[in-house]
Amino acid sequence: MKIIMLGAPGAGKGTQAKRIADKWKIPHISTGDIFRANIKNGTELGMEAKKYMDQGALVPDELTVKILLDRVAAKDCENGYVLDGFPRTIPQAEVLDKALSEMGDSIDYAINVDVPDDSIINRMSGRRACVSCGATYHIEFAPTKTEGICDRCGKELILRDDDKPETVKKRLMVYHEQTQPLIDYYAGKNILKSVDGTKDMKEVFKDIQAILEA
Ligand code: AP5
Ligand code: MG
Repeated sequence: MKIIMLGAPGAGKGTQAKRIADKWKIPHISTGDIFRANIKNGTELGMEAKKYMDQGALVPDELTVKILLDRVAAKDCENGYVLDGFPRTIPQAEVLDKALSEMGDSIDYAINVDVPDDSIINRMSGRRACVSCGATYHIEFAPTKTEGICDRCGKELILRDDDKPETVKKRLMVYHEQTQPLIDYYAGKNILKSVDGTKDMKEVFKDIQAILEA
């Protein structure tokens, strides 16, 4: 099963993608996580991506597309995957469709996690991410057992550089301009499904599960 997660920054794409990946035993592929891992390791790609990410802008398609296409060509993607944060522009979606159709393949579902802008800013300022394993928490909605420490690996939690309110506003603007058009793009292909992302995380997952099991 090949799934794309759509939604504004902070809508809960990563949260739900991890649950889908666990349940369906397919890889969770987040371009944002790939970039953050590169930044942490000080790679050339990471340094380049950071310039854009810190501004709340998109990393250019030339850098993003190749990484993603290489990743989905890996052996563990044979039975499908859940993409989180890719595609983010119409050209990215077209490149992905073309690469898949050359293999006689296509995306099965594009799931739009729908959350209005005013709920987003509040969510982002409370998000905490693990510096080491990338697990995501929320100080109010998904707290860790010990404050500031990752439940999964015991390392320290941080507020992402791009989760500061000013940068979040910029990311939302970029989302509406460049990423939201993908909703119509996938609706046109009859694979768009929308869920109400303002519900509790468990409820959102139930709704997604109902779609994927229908
Ligand atoms: P990326 O890492 O993809 O960030 P994003 O799309 O802005 O999305 P987020 O990860 O911020 O939010 P999310 O929807 O995953 O929400 P989460 O589940 O964490 O990209 C970062 C940057 O990298 C981009 O700005 C860009 O520069 C670059 N980039 C990445 N991909 C690119 C591409 N393809 N092309 C170009 N550039 C690219 O949830 C948010 C918080 O809310 C968490 O704390 C969570 O616990 C909480 N939460 C989740 N669900 C609920 C709920 N139902 N109720 C209450 N709280 C909830
Ligand atoms: Mg995410």
